[in-house]
Amino acid sequence: MPPLPNSNAPQPIRDVLDSIEQQFELSDEKLREITAHFVKMYQLGLQHGHEPMAMIPTFVTAVPDGSETGTFMAVDLGGTNFRVCEVTLEGNHKFSLKQKKFKVTEDLKTGPVTNLFDYMATCVGEFLEELGTVPEEEALHMGLTFSFPVEQTALGAGRLITWTKGFSATGAVGNDVVQLFQDSLDKKRINTKCCALVNDTVGTLLTRGYLTGSCFLGAIFGTGTNGAYVEDMAAIPKLKKKDAKHHDKMVINTEWGAFDNARHVLPLTRWDNALDRISINPRYQAYEKLISGMYLGEIARNILIYLIDLPPVPGSNPPQYYLFKGHSSKKMNTQYGFDSELLSKIKEDSTPGAIRQLLVEEMGFVTYQISDLDAEIVAWVCDKVASRSAALSACAVAATLIQCRYVQLGGEPGEKSADTLELGVDGSLVEFYPGFEQTMRKALRAIIGDKMEKTVKVRMAKDGSGVGAALCALVAVKSEAKLS
Ligand code: GLC
Repeated sequence: MPPLPNSNAPQPIRDVLDSIEQQFELSDEKLREITAHFVKMYQLGLQHGHEPMAMIPTFVTAVPDGSETGTFMAVDLGGTNFRVCEVTLEGNHKFSLKQKKFKVTEDLKTGPVTNLFDYMATCVGEFLEELGTVPEEEALHMGLTFSFPVEQTALGAGRLITWTKGFSATGAVGNDVVQLFQDSLDKKRINTKCCALVNDTVGTLLTRGYLTGSCFLGAIFGTGTNGAYVEDMAAIPKLKKKDAKHHDKMVINTEWGAFDNARHVLPLTRWDNALDRISINPRYQAYEKLISGMYLGEIARNILIYLIDLPPVPGSNPPQYYLFKGHSSKKMNTQYGFDSELLSKIKEDSTPGAIRQLLVEEMGFVTYQISDLDAEIVAWVCDKVASRSAALSACAVAATLIQCRYVQLGGEPGEKSADTLELGVDGSLVEFYPGFEQTMRKALRAIIGDKMEKTVKVRMAKDGSGVGAALCALVAVKSEAKLS
């Protein structure tokens, strides 16, 4: 597709946009190359500990079937909000949920971790008080959804490997996050027992399983990106025999955001490299930085700044700049100043008037600085960044289908077959970016063929974190009962 089909952009501007376009293009061959490398990294991560793609065994050994019942507390830390919920699993694929959201400030994200967990414990106390549930004798059982890479040692214990998504609280890496949270709950005398630890992807997988009866992959495309799927125990050589006894399957939290940190196949541009270089975790989460909501706005901002900075077209008189007559704004000059939410808003309404209004109201530009062509270029840039994200997302989905032996690269059938395969998803990007799924599907067809793509049903698992944590708390309670 030529850039800016509806505009009369002068040739020098078209040339620059063409060169950007080329760098964002993903041929079918490239998509397949990335997917093949993805499968290799999956297998490497299943073999050894300490690989960048961590492939974490979660100690969840089955996907629920919808018959589960019980009432549990669930808490969820993973991004801008901390959520506390009371989840009632009603059986028959139904649940109800009461919840309250609390804001997590930058200070809590980056200060001592005890402040963060103490705050979380206070929120739990506040929620219980509002609910009128004051646990007296028996502690309430609670599942913790903690959406960061955690090396699990049991269903209810795990050490933080590293922070992601802008968190850097001190004193957490290497420590058991359940214990840290329990210490804070105990200190504040909140009579709850945190008995299960889940990643949000696992929650999504379990919730979709609960709602539909099956699910092959739970994936998040939100502030971060990641996926969890069910693996054969025999295909996880790094798991010690004693951990594997009595079970033949285990859910794996892939931590695919770290795919290709070594930069072998990802199509990184100068604007991605600029983002990475000044991020708080340079050279980490390479795949996530091309895909997820935390970063897309920043990539778009880097491209827009590049266009603003270009010297005027040689020989033009009056000087012809490439964007905004060479102007910028304070917000535009600020790291992460261009919120990824703007990409969704611009996609929803790409008329010059709407874009101009957004740029004035949210980015501090002055109306006269923005021509119709500038607005068109902004929409085009945002679309390039978001479309690449959706297409690259397909590589992870395809790699999981290949790893689970449903299909081979290119579309040849695999050893296993299914009429439909449920893909549970959650996250702001997949929920709010118009056309995200369609673009992902187009790329999926290029990688694994039309037939396989059609068997994949993409469905939202809203509130997956809460329900997933409750389901794991249920498993933990049941196995506690068995032991005693
Ligand atoms: C980041 C985290 C991962 C989480 C994902 C989505 O990639 O490392 O654990 O699942 O974000 O929230």
